[in-house]
Amino acid sequence: MVVYDNVVLIGFMGSGKTSVGKVLARHLCKTFVDVDTVIEKEQNCSVSEIFADKGEEYFRSLEQKCINELTQNKGQVIATGGGLPIYSEISKKSLIIYIDADFDVILGRLPAKERAKRPLLHDESRAKGLFKERIGRYEELANFRVDANQSIPTFIHVALDYVL
Ligand code: S3P
Repeated sequence: MVVYDNVVLIGFMGSGKTSVGKVLARHLCKTFVDVDTVIEKEQNCSVSEIFADKGEEYFRSLEQKCINELTQNKGQVIATGGGLPIYSEISKKSLIIYIDADFDVILGRLPAKERAKRPLLHDESRAKGLFKERIGRYEELANFRVDANQSIPTFIHVALDYVL
C-alpha cells in the first residue's frame, strides 16, 4: 500500500478546493492548509495586491516556494491555487485529488466578491481559455478526480470515499 505524506487538492479557481479541503481535513484528523492563505499571511497582503504590485511571475515563485515548504511536512490536506499545478512541481509523495467542476458551474457558484479576489477571473473569456488549457494538466497529475458539479456537500462525500 502506498502511504502518502499529504492530500493535495487541485482544480480550477472556485471549484470548491477550500470547502472540500476543510471537511476532508476534519474527517481525516489532518491539518488544513490553503496555499493562497499562507502566501497572503507571509506577504501581509492579498493575492490581488501581489499580482498588481509584483506581477504574476513573482506570485508563481511564491507558490512554488510555499508548496515545497509545506510538503516537507506530513499529515496535511493542502488546497492549492488553480494555477499552482501548472507552474509548480508537487511532491510525488502527495495524494492528488482533482476537484473538477465545469466552467459555467464555477461562475454560477462564485459571488461577485469572490470573483473580484481572483485577478485571472476578471476577464471571462480569458478565464475560459485558461480553464481549457489547464484541464489536461489537472487530469494528468491527479490520482483521483471528483466530479464537483454536484452540490458541495455531495461531492465532499464522494471525496471522502476516496480517502477513508
Ligand atoms: C489562480 C487561482 C487562485 C489564486 C490566484 C491565481 C489561478 O486561487 O491562486 O488568483 O491561476 O488559477 P483559487 O484557485 O483558490 O481561486
